[in-house]
Amino acid sequence: MMKPTSIRIATVVALGAIAITTTVWAQQAPKPENQIRWRQSAFQVIALNTARIKASVDGSYNKDEVVKSASAIAALANTNLLTLFTPGTEAGKGWHDTTAKAELFKDTQRVAELNAAFTKEANELLRVAQAGDAAAVKEQHGKLARSCKSCHDDFRNAN
Ligand code: HEC
Repeated sequence: MMKPTSIRIATVVALGAIAITTTVWAQQAPKPENQIRWRQSAFQVIALNTARIKASVDGSYNKDEVVKSASAIAALANTNLLTLFTPGTEAGKGWHDTTAKAELFKDTQRVAELNAAFTKEANELLRVAQAGDAAAVKEQHGKLARSCKSCHDDFRNAN
């Protein structure tokens, strides 16, 4: 048991840390190179997990592994990856030069629709994975993959 004073000190320290983090985030928008690196990383992790699900549905199905991968994809989609495409990040280098098309920053309504469709399919994939039917997961994985392609066709340069 912590003594009341230690609890008070711990609370003050924790609140202080939260306040500092919030202030730093609010005062300076993340640097363009960080935003580009983060979005490229997020998409790489998403791609890793879609590949794992594909391998599972095409090979010997492992429900637990599929649920883990589907959770990772849904979690990243639910952070709204469009928040990492702010004006000023149209060009530049993250891990490498961005492959986002300039149109992405102009046709914000269309990209928001495609992102919403992708997020919906990602959450549906997690729901279907938890239900456990391999054939349904295979079908939903296909829907998710088509939502990736729609956005890439319009807003990502082939590399
Ligand atoms: C709303 C649009 C959109 C959706 C949906 C989308 N992507 Fe992307 N993706 C992009 C853009 C834009 C880039 C380029 C990012 C950059 O280089 O700044 C990208 C980049 C990538 C990359 C390359 C990352 C790198 O290192 O450069 C991979 C891999 C990728 N996406 C996979 C996927 C997969 C898999 C899905 C679906 C499960 C998906 N994406 C859904 C827009 C999208």
